[in-house]
Amino acid sequence: MKIVTILGARPQFIKAATVSYEINKRSKIQEIIVHTGQHYDKNMSEVFFEQLNIPEPKYNLKISGLNHGAMTGRMIEAIEDVLLKENPNMVLLYGDTNSTLAGALAASKIKIPIAHVEAGLRSRNMNMPEEINRIITDRLSDLLFCPSENAMNNLKSEGFPNKLDQIRIQKLIRSGDVMYDVVKHNEMTIKNTEIKKNSNELIPYVLCTLHRQENTDDAGRMKSIIDALNLIAIDINVILPLHPRAKKNIKLMGLDLCNLNVIDPQPYLEMQRLAMGANTILTDSGGVQKEAFFYKIPCITLRDETEWVETIQSGWNQLAGADKDNILKAWKAEKNKLNDFNCAYGDGKASEIIVKELEDYMGCK
Ligand code: UD1
Repeated sequence: MKIVTILGARPQFIKAATVSYEINKRSKIQEIIVHTGQHYDKNMSEVFFEQLNIPEPKYNLKISGLNHGAMTGRMIEAIEDVLLKENPNMVLLYGDTNSTLAGALAASKIKIPIAHVEAGLRSRNMNMPEEINRIITDRLSDLLFCPSENAMNNLKSEGFPNKLDQIRIQKLIRSGDVMYDVVKHNEMTIKNTEIKKNSNELIPYVLCTLHRQENTDDAGRMKSIIDALNLIAIDINVILPLHPRAKKNIKLMGLDLCNLNVIDPQPYLEMQRLAMGANTILTDSGGVQKEAFFYKIPCITLRDETEWVETIQSGWNQLAGADKDNILKAWKAEKNKLNDFNCAYGDGKASEIIVKELEDYMGCK
């Protein structure tokens, strides 16, 4: 049986790592990886394949840096060519990027069943390109792998499982979260990873990431966040691995980062080591919110809402948005009374559950 996996952006490389490992270990399924090219810098792409031992993509479509419509359109066309050539039994998609959406549209038009990992997440903010991508991908998928009970409930409240046609009915599976699998899988290596000097030489530190379009493309929100970070940096070393989108826009907006410890985007292991050792994490990334939660590091989310509601319900994550005063209030809030919690995202075995379901669906003997 053959599956085509579509990847394109940094978080998808991470999400695919343990699922690909599990597929190769069991060897009942042949996996063909397609890299759309959405992320292309060495430190946004190649280094993740190297560190996480992800099999090399058979195809790199080299589509990047375009407006959403052009990017998605070109990806659909190129993915369709690959699917017609490879004729797989199934297409495997991760998360909510334009590469995910393009994979879903290309596969569904030529009637190839789809498995969606990280199904059922909802921010309830249709201004986010990711929310649109998630909703459409879920609608077109046959197997929907949900990381949490909340994700399952989101789908049920939208009427899932739906009938896709006369024969196919969607199947919802609470698999757990594959990013938790990757952390578990690499736990010892992460602990033993050395951080380059000058990033964490000033311990304690807070770790910050910023890349979300709703922040980086809005000069008002961006200025307010950077102002707050500069004030926090009076108390503590602020390490900011800077995403290319944020870097470009901060330069264009003429914002001053002089108090901050700005470093390049980090490879997986180094980023995890930084997260694990941080005093607090400030982020607008979904994945980094979850990683803070896995490591029990208090998190301040620089967004107005989050899909990862369990991190808020547990008390370990505060939603601060982009308002300077709210961010500073969250920074000053008491954090040492936080309780222990059960992981809402499974037990690190999501990939096994996913691959077993894929085998069953495709009738692997
Ligand atoms: C994309 C995803 C977002 C995900 C994020 C992770 C969509 C709609 N957004 O956002 O959900 O959280 O990836 O990082 O799919 N760039 C480089 N080098 C790179 C990658 C990007 O210079 O290696 C530049 C691009 O040319 C572009 C900008 O950064 O100008 C944004 O890249 P893009 O892939 O469009 O979106 P992200 O912000 O990375």
